[in-house]
Amino acid sequence: MTAILPHGGSLINRLAAGEERERLLQEAEKLQTISINKWSISDLDLIGVGAFSPLNGFLNEEDYRSVVKNMRLADGTVWSIPITLSISEEDAAQISIGETVALTGQHDGVIYGLLKVGSIYKVDQREEAVNVFKTDDLEHPGVKKLFERSPIYVGGEVTVLNRPQPERFGEFYFDPEETRRIFAEKGWKRVVGFQTRNPVHRAHEYIQKSALEIVDGLFLNPLVGETKSDDVPADVRMKSYLVLLENYYPQDRTFLGVFPAAMRYAGPREAIFHAMVRKNYGCTHFIVGRDHAGVGDYYGTYEAQEIFSNFTAEELGISPLFFEHSFFCTKCGNMASSKTCPHPKEDHMTLSGTKVRGLLRDGICPPPEFTRPEVAKVLIEGMSHQVII
Ligand code: ADX
Repeated sequence: MTAILPHGGSLINRLAAGEERERLLQEAEKLQTISINKWSISDLDLIGVGAFSPLNGFLNEEDYRSVVKNMRLADGTVWSIPITLSISEEDAAQISIGETVALTGQHDGVIYGLLKVGSIYKVDQREEAVNVFKTDDLEHPGVKKLFERSPIYVGGEVTVLNRPQPERFGEFYFDPEETRRIFAEKGWKRVVGFQTRNPVHRAHEYIQKSALEIVDGLFLNPLVGETKSDDVPADVRMKSYLVLLENYYPQDRTFLGVFPAAMRYAGPREAIFHAMVRKNYGCTHFIVGRDHAGVGDYYGTYEAQEIFSNFTAEELGISPLFFEHSFFCTKCGNMASSKTCPHPKEDHMTLSGTKVRGLLRDGICPPPEFTRPEVAKVLIEGMSHQVII
């Protein structure tokens, strides 16, 4: 086991197994059901495996209000993103506190788990949006999602009975218990986690490798749950990570495993959440670069770093590693940031996401100083495939 403790002290395990699972599945057939979407199935599963430790269920009202206001659970534990289950008014009318309900997949009818109803409460979505996303603008993808949901939430402890099955790249799904064991087997005492929802471009590679200079191993942990439609799809990204790792990373110091959560685009608050979750996976360090988990102009470039100063090192448990905006400097002839490069902006090669997507769509590789050619090739292929379908 790695030395680092899970958030809250112990790894939550809410997975039913063996005979108990069989028994619960049979009982579930007789229970009131609530159908849940893929996003909630992913939250349920991540709670079940302990990735969201210390949460053992969807937030109850007291914890919800405390998280929204203070970025802490009611007992004071740092927690920045409300993990909640929204239900329709009709469903809410069918259930009562203390009752156990079955959670079934909206798309497939599978019983994914059980929830012991601890509270049913109505929320002020505007207040949640302004606190969590710092805006109530419906153009913000996270805010839009929030307002599409019913404002009635149900909280309570969960038990997972069936796990969502990945369509592809199943070999890169690891539960926190497994990653912790794997890091220990590799003899890694200091492991840096890297969150991404993008292909790994040279700037990402630079900050990962800068971090790797001071720790034992890199856990490349791309988020592969729901993202907004103009982000590069997860299966294309997975292929791009594989060619990159094969060609440019030391095999014995790098480990690829996915983070099957939905992207919230909550910038600073999501950075704290991402760090706590990576602690649960066994990371001791976590990279936070420019505009982490940001979207548009809603957050300041370094706000996702500054937010960490609200908490003590002991409360966080994991050490954030902050990186400035990085780029290739044509004068230096290498990757750098404003901390290490003395040259003016004109010498820096930076391309916007929109520009890069445009190039790739036209079948043009961005400059190798921006994206490794092997990665660009995978992305171009992936994009042309998308157009065909
Ligand atoms: S995120 O939404 O998952 O944060 P992205 O995949 O682009 O988006 O970023 C992954 C990590 O790399 C984040 O910590 C982000 O801050 C950092 N990052 C991305 N681009 C740069 C850059 N040019 N310079 C420094 N850090 C960066």
